[in-house]
Amino acid sequence: MKIKTWIRLTSVLAIPLGLALAASADDDAVPGTLPPAATKQGVTYAGDIKPILDNSCAKCHSGDKPRGHLKLDSLEGALKGGKDGKVIVAGDSAKSMLIQAVAHLSKDSDDWMPPLHNRANIGPLTPDQIGLLRAWIDQGAK
Ligand code: HEC
Repeated sequence: MKIKTWIRLTSVLAIPLGLALAASADDDAVPGTLPPAATKQGVTYAGDIKPILDNSCAKCHSGDKPRGHLKLDSLEGALKGGKDGKVIVAGDSAKSMLIQAVAHLSKDSDDWMPPLHNRANIGPLTPDQIGLLRAWIDQGAK
């Protein structure tokens, strides 16, 4: 086979192969469903929520330059919101951007939190943790 033909052939094959590899990298990126709110009453930031956010979010969402301009290491920060505005609608967890992000509701996995492939290797929240966050917001985000 002539070298030019070979080069043409390999580049024709390389494109679909590259696309397949790029697609397979995010095969786990299937949107999630919203877990139900926990039935626990009297859920508060200080009592129930701060430990979850400290564990899974504060690494990026605290300090002088919080990612997305959103601080989650204090109740005030969480209620204030981020660069796109409020992330919590007190009384309506399903409409809250924070819940939509942790439950992977967007078709675009870039909106999921924590980010899928983060260097700190922080994994997704469990359905129980999301349920507790929902109960907190539904009960007024106190
Ligand atoms: C490894 C870093 C990292 C972790 C951990 C992380 N985030 Fe984020 N988060 C980001 C980045 C970066 C952005 C900004 C994305 C952008 O600019 O589009 C962001 C943006 C957001 C936004 C949107 C803010 C806005 O106004 O646009 C929400 C809501 C959010 N994060 C919630 C969370 C929650 C809740 C957790 C924990 C369960 C979490 N994040 C954990 C890096 C992180």
